[in-house]
Amino acid sequence: MDAMRTLTVNLGARSYPIHLGEGLLPRAGDLIRQAGCGEKVGIVTNPSVAALYLGAVEGSLRRSGFHVVTIVVPEGEEHKNLGSLAMIYDRLIAERFDRGSWVVALGGGVIGDVAGFAAATFLRGIPYIQVPTTLLAQVDSSVGGKTGINHLEGKNLIGAFYQPRLVIIDVDALCTLPKRELVAGLAEVIKYGVIADPRLFGLLEEKLDRVLALDRKLLLEIVAASCAIKAGVVEQDEREDDYRSVLNFGHSVGHALEALTGYAELLHGEAVAIGMVQAATISARQGLCDEKSLRRICAVIEKSGLPTEIPVNVDLKELVRGMEVDKKSVGGKIKFVLCRGIGVTEFRWFSLEEIAAQLAA
Ligand code: NAD
Ligand code: GLY
Repeated sequence: MDAMRTLTVNLGARSYPIHLGEGLLPRAGDLIRQAGCGEKVGIVTNPSVAALYLGAVEGSLRRSGFHVVTIVVPEGEEHKNLGSLAMIYDRLIAERFDRGSWVVALGGGVIGDVAGFAAATFLRGIPYIQVPTTLLAQVDSSVGGKTGINHLEGKNLIGAFYQPRLVIIDVDALCTLPKRELVAGLAEVIKYGVIADPRLFGLLEEKLDRVLALDRKLLLEIVAASCAIKAGVVEQDEREDDYRSVLNFGHSVGHALEALTGYAELLHGEAVAIGMVQAATISARQGLCDEKSLRRICAVIEKSGLPTEIPVNVDLKELVRGMEVDKKSVGGKIKFVLCRGIGVTEFRWFSLEEIAAQLAA
C-alpha cells in the first residue's frame, strides 16, 4: 500500500484531517468510512474528471458499502453558478438525501467551491469531503472551508465558510492535468513561498523543472508544505476577520482581472500570478520589498511559464473598479497584501485613486 501522510486543520469541533499521498483515490472508500461518513454519498464532479477518476472513487465507495449517487455538473468557471447549484440540490432532493448523507467534491476548485456551498446550504448543512484533483485545489481551495459561486458582477460573491470533514489529496491525479492548469496551480504555491516560507520558495527556484516534470516526491513535498501553511493561517483566522487575508497576496488584482476578462481569458492562477507581480512591485515602491527579492519573485513566476503583465486589452480604470466590487474592499479602500522580501507580509489600505496611480506607474 502506498504511504500516506496526514496533516490536521485544528479548528476545535470543526477540525479535520488532510490525507496526502499517491494512490489514494482507489482507497477513498476506506478513508471516507474512517471519517464516519453516513451510508448515502453524493459525488459531485464534472465530465472530464468523471471520465478519469469517477470509476475509481465510485468503485471504492461501493466496495466500502456506501450507496453512491453521482452528480455531474457542466465544466468550467462559467458554471460555478446558480445553475450548477440548482442541479445539485435537485438531485439531492430527488435521491432523498438527509442530514446523515454526505457530499464528495471530486475535481478542481470549481467543483470544490460549488459542491461545498451546496453541502453548506442543503438542509442547513450536510457534511462534505474534498477530493481535489488539480494542483490549485490541492494546495488551496480544498482546505479552509471557503465555498461559493460567482455572480456576474464578481467572483465568489455568494458563499459560506463551511469546513469539510476530510480532504483526500492524491498527487497521482496531477499527471493527467493539462500543463497550463498545473502551471496555474503553481502560482498559489509560489504565493505560499512569498508570504510565509522562504524554504519552499527556494525549493521552487531550485527544482522547478522537476516539479513541472511531475516528480511525485517533490509534488508531495510542495503540496504538503502549502497545505500546512494554509492550515496554519486558517487556524488563526477561520473567517478572514483579518490575518487570513494574507492568502490574498496577488488576488485583489487577480480577481478583478478574471472578472474583467469574463472568467475566460485567464485561469485563476494566471490572474493571481499577474497580481503577485503587481503586489511585489508596489511593495518595492513602498520601500518594503528589496529589489533582489522583487527580481526573484518575478523570475520564478516567469520561469514557471505564468504571465506577468496585465493584458493590453484591460483598461486600468475598469480594473480598479473591479477591485472595488470585490468583497475585500471596505468603504472605498482596498486592503492590499504587500511583501517585505520573501516570507514576511504587511497589510496596507489604499484608496482607489492610490491603487490607480500605483498600477499606472
Ligand atoms: P477548475 O476546477 O476549473 O479545474 C481546471 C480544469 O481541470 C477543469 O477543466 C477540470 O475539469 C480539469 N481537471 C480537474 N482535475 C483534473 C485532472 N486531474 N486531470 C485532468 N483534468 C482535470 O480550476 P481550478 O484551478 O482547480 O480551480 C479554480 C477555482 O477555484 C476558481 O473558481 C477559484 O475561485 C477557486 N478557488 C477557491 C479557493 C477557496 O479557498 N475556496 C481558493 C482558490 C481558488
Ligand atoms: N484562497 C484564499 C483563502 O482561502 O482564504
